[in-house]
Amino acid sequence: MEMEKEISAIVTDAENAVRAVDVKDVETLPHRVDDLKAKYFGKNSEINNIYRLMKDVAPVDRPAFGKLVNDAKRQIEDRILSFQASCDELVLRFRLSAEQIDITLPGRGAVKGALHPLTLTRNLLTDYFISLGFEVTDGPEIETDYYNFEALNTPADHPARDAQDTFYIEGGEGKFLLRSQTSAAQIRVMENKKPPIKMISPGRVYRADEVDATHSPVFHQLEGLVVDKGITMCDLKGILDALAKRLFGESVKTRFRPSFFPFTEPSVEVDASCVKCGGAGCKACRGAGWIEVLGAGMVNRAVLRNCGIDPAVYSGFAFGVGIDRITNLLYGINDMRVLFENDVRFLKQFR
Ligand code: DAH
Repeated sequence: MEMEKEISAIVTDAENAVRAVDVKDVETLPHRVDDLKAKYFGKNSEINNIYRLMKDVAPVDRPAFGKLVNDAKRQIEDRILSFQASCDELVLRFRLSAEQIDITLPGRGAVKGALHPLTLTRNLLTDYFISLGFEVTDGPEIETDYYNFEALNTPADHPARDAQDTFYIEGGEGKFLLRSQTSAAQIRVMENKKPPIKMISPGRVYRADEVDATHSPVFHQLEGLVVDKGITMCDLKGILDALAKRLFGESVKTRFRPSFFPFTEPSVEVDASCVKCGGAGCKACRGAGWIEVLGAGMVNRAVLRNCGIDPAVYSGFAFGVGIDRITNLLYGINDMRVLFENDVRFLKQFR
């Protein structure tokens, strides 16, 4: 009688253990079911240990006792195995839904990056000049006063040399600065190379400007320089007119206005007929019909002399293009801040 109670307590215990299993944690479920199996009908389970009591049972009662234990064990086994089957089903369904692939969906293409619009413009410009046989050179962004101003014939009292306009490097005793123009690169080339020279130098330049729609303390220029025997203003006009056509279209006309730069004489500012209205006058060109695109001129004899080139033998022309400005014109951008903010929604339009 005692024995019977004990056996049925084991069965109840196993049943309760099965019911107590939390099936929501699907990940660990298979392990927990294995633990149940070991505990309730494994080698060292309570029900197995009951068999050992057989020797204390009177021989006549042994068959009945054996049947009792066998039945209980089978009951526990059936219960746990069928529970395991339903758990397996649950786990399978969980895995299938977690690893589901909808093969009817279109494939996800690799997202390609885009070149920044300033890079696109720089490439457009450098490709043009490379096709004409120009060499591309680099210059340092931290320059000396000599390369950025003095050698470029810019006098000590010139407003551009003011700390209001140029970033001087602290501790540089007024000697080191962030270059305010790529023109500095001209000097480095002329110092190191004898004519004929045909070079361009694109890069970043810095000026102490407040950020607004048309100003940025860092922007980009492309400097160009040609020095050889017999270079004239006609060469300058021909190359820059062709550049304007390459950038804005074959029907674009150019205009060369007298201007002033310390490092060129004579100096010009080059306008292109408005890309929008073709010269009739519109909002984009503020009614003028023309848009200023770059500064240029014949290299000042003093600059050639500063670099050890004899102006009696050689002459040259130089020009400086604002890459940001050309980019704005090419892509219809009216606030240059978008060029520096790197908003992906803006940038991905250039893919
Ligand atoms: N350096 C000038 C600027 O930053 C641009 C420029 C004008 C460059 C005339 C030149 C040039 O080489 O000849 O405004």
